[in-house]
Amino acid sequence: MGCCVSCEKGAVGERKDPAEAEKQSQIAPTASSSEMSRLEASKGGVNTKFISNHGLDCTSLTYDELDVATERFAQKHFLGKGGFGEVYKGVLDGNHVAIKILNPNGMQGNREFYTEVMVLSRLDHPNLVKLVGYCAEWGQRLLVYEYMPLGSLETHIFDLSPDKKPLDWNTRMKILAGAAQGLQHLHVSTDPPIINRDVKCSNILLGEGYHPKLSDFGLAKLGPTGDDTHVSTRVMGTPGYCAPEYLESGHITLRSDIYSFGVVILEVITGRRALDQRRGKAERNLAEWATPLINKKEYSILADPALSGQYSETSLVQALAVAQLCVRKTASQRPLITDVTAALTYISSRRRSASSRRSFRMQPASPVHQQGK
Ligand SMILES: Nc1ncnc2c1ncn2[C@@H]1O[C@H](COP(=O)(O)OP(=O)(O)O)[C@@H](O)[C@H]1O
Ligand SMILES: [Mg+2]
Repeated sequence: MGCCVSCEKGAVGERKDPAEAEKQSQIAPTASSSEMSRLEASKGGVNTKFISNHGLDCTSLTYDELDVATERFAQKHFLGKGGFGEVYKGVLDGNHVAIKILNPNGMQGNREFYTEVMVLSRLDHPNLVKLVGYCAEWGQRLLVYEYMPLGSLETHIFDLSPDKKPLDWNTRMKILAGAAQGLQHLHVSTDPPIINRDVKCSNILLGEGYHPKLSDFGLAKLGPTGDDTHVSTRVMGTPGYCAPEYLESGHITLRSDIYSFGVVILEVITGRRALDQRRGKAERNLAEWATPLINKKEYSILADPALSGQYSETSLVQALAVAQLCVRKTASQRPLITDVTAALTYISSRRRSASSRRSFRMQPASPVHQQGK
């Protein structure tokens, strides 16, 4: 979908009446004041009424419009259910969209909802899932995203049915490099930077040709500026992906995302879940299981058996080296996303066939070895 829903709106339904708009403008101020002031500073003066008005790259939709788009949220359009609620496929003016109904009893309250709407609507990058609309009506909260036809990376890596072909090595590296670029946009190209807070395989969605995009910034907050850090009062995120310092103190920085991304790299390489309660204690937490094996250079144990040995050993070692740095316990020792992206882009560009396998040997200093701020 190349265009926001707002420019397609006429075909979908009628515009809201003024009373409806007024109702929404009363809801809007529930976004946190610090977030609003940050937005005002970065956007040159944002008023909350713009949430249901112009100034954003997405538009307000009525519940009726979304009801029609999903044929009354019919089961046949059900895509899945996450921590915040159910997701349905819909059609708005001929374009496929994914509509997320936020669970009113879930964690995502008004503040998070408007934060997500405001933050996401300003983002535009080929590796970020686009928010195209939202609905905030009668206490209901729905988000409308561009539809990603190949679903989440998770469904291509874990518990594959016998008839589903596993992703090959080159595709896995391409997906990781693209996802890193999406995260880099949040960390580096957005001012103030955005901490994703929920980097995980199920939040990497795939388009045609396995083009990856990060999704779900429902937990995202505007990140620290300058030397400031951001201390969250609530620890959120997904077990197995959370950086140790985040779990212990709720202290969150851009490097917490790097830890989570390191876990994603490990999942993609090993085909194992970040946290797998079905495994023995020593193997339950992927990062804790993989790190000593990488240290001992026992690389081949770490390759996903579903790859059937079809990977470049050099690439395997390089990708594991990146993951190892990302999941370091000490946050300051983790690389910056720019280093991670550079390394993964390099690995992904060196497409090798299994027949060109070499002996294990770490490459000389790749960009990821430079430790940033
Ligand atoms: N934009 C989208 N396009 C296609 N499928 C999506 C989209 N967003 C979410 N989904 C699917 O809906 C399901 C639930 O997603 P979500 O609520 O984000 O939960 P989670 O991230 O925990 O899996 C997942 O299977 C996901 O693949
Ligand atoms: Mg998700």
